[in-house]
Amino acid sequence: MGTENKYIKEIKYTEEQIQERIKFVANQINEEFKNSKEIIVVSILKGGLNFTFDLIKHLNVDLSIDFIKSKSYALSRKFTSPMIIFNPSVPLEGKDILLVDDFIDSGETLMKVRSYLAEHKPKSISAAAVVKKPSSSKNIHNMKVFACWNEEPGGFLMGYGLDYDEKYRNLPYIAIISYNNEDS
Ligand code: IMP
Ligand code: MG
Repeated sequence: MGTENKYIKEIKYTEEQIQERIKFVANQINEEFKNSKEIIVVSILKGGLNFTFDLIKHLNVDLSIDFIKSKSYALSRKFTSPMIIFNPSVPLEGKDILLVDDFIDSGETLMKVRSYLAEHKPKSISAAAVVKKPSSSKNIHNMKVFACWNEEPGGFLMGYGLDYDEKYRNLPYIAIISYNNEDS
């Protein structure tokens, strides 16, 4: 694992740590849905893709996968309100939905996606994320969230789904971005 990327200030969560925590969170989800007939995993694109891919390998409940696109940042700047694109491949009515995202920052995206999906009348909507900021809890109401880390990461993040101006989502670890790279 190298730190040759000039935008990396610090590796916050290593690949090994992420994979370890995913197994732990997957066990919690398996327990939560052990009596569920089928869950619909809805991956929040694009950031949720890496986590979704690794998480589902450890889930042992019957599931189907769908994708919802929500964009809230462009060039590291936040939009006033996230845009949503969704074409469900199976009916969501009466189903247990598990939303999967990379990072819950303010919780705004999650709440917006939830109210959008609630119109499909699912039985339940819960969420899983790699990192959830504790401060997001004030915006997240009546929703169970399974998080690998529930903490303030201390900087803008990239890697493992999280982008820096659309790049570095493919890194297997999560790093804090350094903005002191003018000379490189
Ligand atoms: P929220 O709506 O404030 O919870 O943020 C929603 C989404 O914005 C996250 O799921 C990420 O995809 C993106 N985002 C928030 N903070 C960061 C960051 O530090 N780096 C990259 N993407 C971020
Ligand atoms: Mg995201």
